[in-house]
Amino acid sequence: MSLSHWLSTSISSSSAFLSSPIFNSRNQHVCLPPKDLVICRCVTASQEEKTVFKTKVSRNVNIAKLQAGYLFPEVARRRNAHLQKYPDARVISLGIGDTTEPIPEVITSAMAERSQELSTFEKYSGYGAEQGEKPLRSAIASTFYDGLGIEEDDIFVSDGAKCDISRLQVMFGSEVTMAVQDPSYPAYVDSSVIMGQTGQFQKDVEKYAKIEYMRCTPDNGFFPDLSTVSKTDIIFFCSPNNPTGAAATRDQLIQLVKFAKDNGSIIIYDSAYAFYMSDDNPRSIFEIPGAKEVAIETSSFSKYAGFTGVRLGWTVIPKQLLFSDGFPVARDFNRIVSTCFNGASNISQAGGLACLSAEGLKAMHEVVGFYKENTNIIVDTFNSLGFKVYGGKNGPYVWVHFPGQSSWDVFSEILEKTHVVTTPGSGFGPGGEGFIRVSAFGHRDNILEACRRFRQLYK
Ligand SMILES: Cc1ncc(COP(=O)(O)O)c(C=O)c1O
Repeated sequence: MSLSHWLSTSISSSSAFLSSPIFNSRNQHVCLPPKDLVICRCVTASQEEKTVFKTKVSRNVNIAKLQAGYLFPEVARRRNAHLQKYPDARVISLGIGDTTEPIPEVITSAMAERSQELSTFEKYSGYGAEQGEKPLRSAIASTFYDGLGIEEDDIFVSDGAKCDISRLQVMFGSEVTMAVQDPSYPAYVDSSVIMGQTGQFQKDVEKYAKIEYMRCTPDNGFFPDLSTVSKTDIIFFCSPNNPTGAAATRDQLIQLVKFAKDNGSIIIYDSAYAFYMSDDNPRSIFEIPGAKEVAIETSSFSKYAGFTGVRLGWTVIPKQLLFSDGFPVARDFNRIVSTCFNGASNISQAGGLACLSAEGLKAMHEVVGFYKENTNIIVDTFNSLGFKVYGGKNGPYVWVHFPGQSSWDVFSEILEKTHVVTTPGSGFGPGGEGFIRVSAFGHRDNILEACRRFRQLYK
């Protein structure tokens, strides 16, 4: 986002804030403040003078380092502005990556039953174990990590992978250094900035100081050249990747684990899209020998079962993973979840358990299969228009190249001319410049209609 755009959005939102009725002192009785209170005078767009009260609390300097809004709220803001401009347009959203298909009934009926039980004396339950319910932890271990030496008590059930990413950052604190794939899911970088692990944003390179950006482009098959990557404490790695859709091969993950081991680093492996994998690549980092000593894995029911609103995920921290002083990482994470979290909703956990029943797994595969058909339709469309298209095979995202063009310009042109919302690649890091991400989450008629409009635009 350009500086001028950022300024214009901040100014318009702050003027809306300042003109809120609670600050409209003209209509209210105004008391004179005690001498030591800080008062400032502001002039709104209408040049009306207002007096606002400010606390003495300083803003968190790390949050102040963040650039404009988090990517997806910014995309949503532009979508809403577009809707205001074209109130009658049929806007199709293939941007944020939110699921659209209903949750299979075998899963919702388990949640409904659990919900009903909460109205009975016999089956009511309140706070549960912060780490999650035993049967669900056990089912996660046996479903996703069978034969990999991951046990039920290595698993922490949560309200989603994004929340776990932040809790992991809280656990590691502000002194660690971190590496991310570039481009990558924005929560890794933003949570690192908020924790104070980084320096300021450097406009010339579009990067935060002190973060190691591991460039992942078509030129290196979307896997970083580790010989050029500086040693960091933490390495975030997402496969299948959001946004590129690329999935690391076994050989690549062997290299990554070796790299972490050589440097004494910890990998935070995000496998939120593993269910979408078609290739025979590892679904979990723990398929790689030795990974239990250097890796954490976080994952989610969001994109498997449409749980983006229900909220349920998990993080695996093997007991073999130790800090430099020999203290088990899992014990610190246990402390964090006990302090900063009170466990996932018991209703969501009932849903999660149903997901992992034979019937639930079959239903999840069907939903994922539906989205994968959407992906094929989008890939075929852009291929037929002569674009270079990546991803799509192992993840629900299609990564389309517009060489030499600005991602935000392409995003804006597509929105303006087709009323389809995509996501600009540069929002995922400087390595995403020149790409847009098209999400395959959508009803089939919307996907077909969006592709018809793409064909019209680029014919
Ligand atoms: C790579 C990745 N990790 C984590 C998440 C968040 O998952 P959850 O809904 O479980 O918080 C997303 C959501 O888009 C994602 O793309």
